[in-house]
Order: sequence, then C-alpha cells, then structure tokens
Amino acid sequence: MKTLILKINKNKPEKEKIDKAAKVLKNGGTVAFPTETVYGLGANALDKTSIEKIFKAKGRPQDNPLIVHIADTNKLYDLVDDIPKKAKVLMDKFWPGPLTIIFNRNENVPDEVTAGLQTVAIRYPDNLIAKALIKSANLPIAAPSANTSGKPSPTDSKHVLEDLDGKVDIIIDGGLTGVGVESTVLDISGDIPTILRPGGITKEDLLTVFDEVKYDPALKNKDFKPKSPGQKYRHYSPKGEVKIVKGDIGKVIKRINSLTKEYESKNIKVGIMATLETLDKYECENVVSVGSRKDFKTIAANLFKTLRYFDEIGVDIILAEAIDELGIGSAVMNRLTKASGGNIIIT
Ligand code: TXA
Ligand code: MG
Repeated sequence: MKTLILKINKNKPEKEKIDKAAKVLKNGGTVAFPTETVYGLGANALDKTSIEKIFKAKGRPQDNPLIVHIADTNKLYDLVDDIPKKAKVLMDKFWPGPLTIIFNRNENVPDEVTAGLQTVAIRYPDNLIAKALIKSANLPIAAPSANTSGKPSPTDSKHVLEDLDGKVDIIIDGGLTGVGVESTVLDISGDIPTILRPGGITKEDLLTVFDEVKYDPALKNKDFKPKSPGQKYRHYSPKGEVKIVKGDIGKVIKRINSLTKEYESKNIKVGIMATLETLDKYECENVVSVGSRKDFKTIAANLFKTLRYFDEIGVDIILAEAIDELGIGSAVMNRLTKASGGNIIIT
C-alpha cells in the first residue's frame, strides 16, 4: 500500500487534515500519530478487522494487548461499566497525560484489543493532534507505539516512516514527541496501585494521590509472570547489542573505556551512550550524550532516538551508562534493561 505522509501543525492542527486522517480511521484504516510520549499506530478500537491491521503492520505478537485512547473522559463509559474511585482520582489529576489505567472492560471492547483479557488499558493522551484526531473520528482509538515490534519506540515521524512505510495508510508528521518514553501502565484492581510498566507519570507523581504505590515484582524478577503481557518480550532493541554499565561513575567510565578498547581491537564497532558530565571522558569515536545525569526528563526524551542513531551509523555494541532509578529515570532504566536483554555489567 502507498502510505500518505500528512504534515500537521502541532500547535494548531489544520482541521481539514485532521478530518482526512479521521475519515481513514472511520473507514477501518490505520493512522500513525504523535502523542506526548511516543508516536502511536491507531485504528478503530471497536472494530476487529481494523485492529488486525495494527498487529500485521507491526508484526506484533497476538497476545500483547493494546492501549485504547480517548479524548473525552465521558467516552470511558462506552468501554467500561464501572469507574472505580481510585481511577476517578487519577483521571482528575493526570488526564490528559502519560498514564494508562487498567479497567474491567465491557462487551463493546473486542477480544482482539485486549488479547482476550477481561481488562482494558485506557489513556487520554495530551497532544493537540492526537486529541483532535480522536475527537474528529469520534471513536476510541487503539494505538500501540508505531514501531516494528521489538524496535525502539518512535519519537519522530521519521522513525515511524523507517519502520512502517508501505504498511499503514497515513503517517502524520507532527514533530517530536515530548516525554520520549511511553505512558505508565497502572493496575488499580488491588489495595495498592501497582505499576505494570514505568513511564511518563512517575511513582513519585502517583504518591501525591496515594499513600502507597508498588511496582509489579515481575519488572525486576523473572520468576514472576508480568501482569502487563508486553513486559515479557524483548523490546526497544536496536540492531546493536546493548550492554549497561552500572556503578560508581568513575568506575563506569574506566570500564567502558577498557571494554571499548577490547572490542575495537577485534574490529567491533562501539557506540557509547554517555551523559553531559562524562561525554569527554571516553576514548571512542561514537559517543553521544543523552543529557545531564541529573536531568532524567531530557535523558528520557533522547533515549530512543539515540538507540536508533546507533543503528544508523551501524555500531555492533552499545555501551550505556546506567542512571539512577528516580523519577522518570525508572522508565529509562526499564527500557534500557529490556533493550539489553538484561545484560548489566556491575563495576
Ligand atoms: O505512551 C504510550 O502508552 C504509547 C502511546 C502510543 O500511547 N503506547 C504504547 O502502547 O506504548 P504499546 O502497545 O507499545 O504498549 C502497551 C502496553 C504493553 O506493555 C501491554 O502489554 C500493556 O500496555 N497492556 C495493554 N493492555 C493491558 C491490560 N489489559 N492489562 C495489562 N497490561 C496491558
Ligand atoms: Mg510498544
């Protein structure tokens, strides 16, 4: 199929362009669009045939459920019968924004969206193009990240084009996404709200409305079955092999330098994911700073694009400095750990 690229002004989305993309969604097609986190690949969440197109374009495993996007909290009632009190508190405080809440679904939601689960993941994205598109389509829109399954999520329409050109009807070019890592997926079915996937809304943010918040133990321990099926897959992986180096920063620098020397002597091309403070400490041609070690937000915004950059220049091994798991740093380390397949070198 021929993919249409539609450039839309992110500050003032042009109505006729939004309506054109919305029409494609209404007619059962697929549209990649920016959200505040990453680009999503959208289709009508109420239509099984439309949903199948998403799985096919991404090469996504069938047992990984999708997030449904809405742009009006009242539309929640089309998808769920009961809105728990905890959800109301969260919606008031964090929607629109990078928080996905797990609800019990009603019969309108097709099995294809939830991979057969009795629950459905819902979020209200905070991006003018996403909001205008969903409103114009007047439909709930299922949208996973708009990358080929397993690749780093796209934070720029050019990443979407790299992965999905010829596989989707429309790619909206709406500039760079802001947050850079995906939404937080939160389970509120138990007594203590549980983070199934760390993301744009941090544990610290959630602790402003709840006394206690925990992480799904499966995030750190392979003996547990993840409640978010997506967490069991290797993910966010560039072609180069990612290795995280963790510990005292002085030791990390030394270790990365010695590993680089060792690999380069064997003609293995190395890329180093460094930070502002350490950028000039490395003896290697391909060093990229993702931001200050103290500025987790900037690091999150730069993470996926840096992994894709290393692919572009064809590095074989990516050595990445670990950062502190504070704030959105937790989401960064979750994505990096997945990208590395758990390959962490402790110094
Ligand atoms: O920021 C985001 O959330 C982006 C943008 C496009 O909105 N979307 C996104 O979707 O990251 P995706 O499909 O790449 O990740 C969805 C995650 C997966 O880990 C999936 O397993 C989990 O949400 N999920 C979906 N439905 C679920 C459910 N009913 N219960 C538990 N986890 C669920
Ligand atoms: Mg994804």
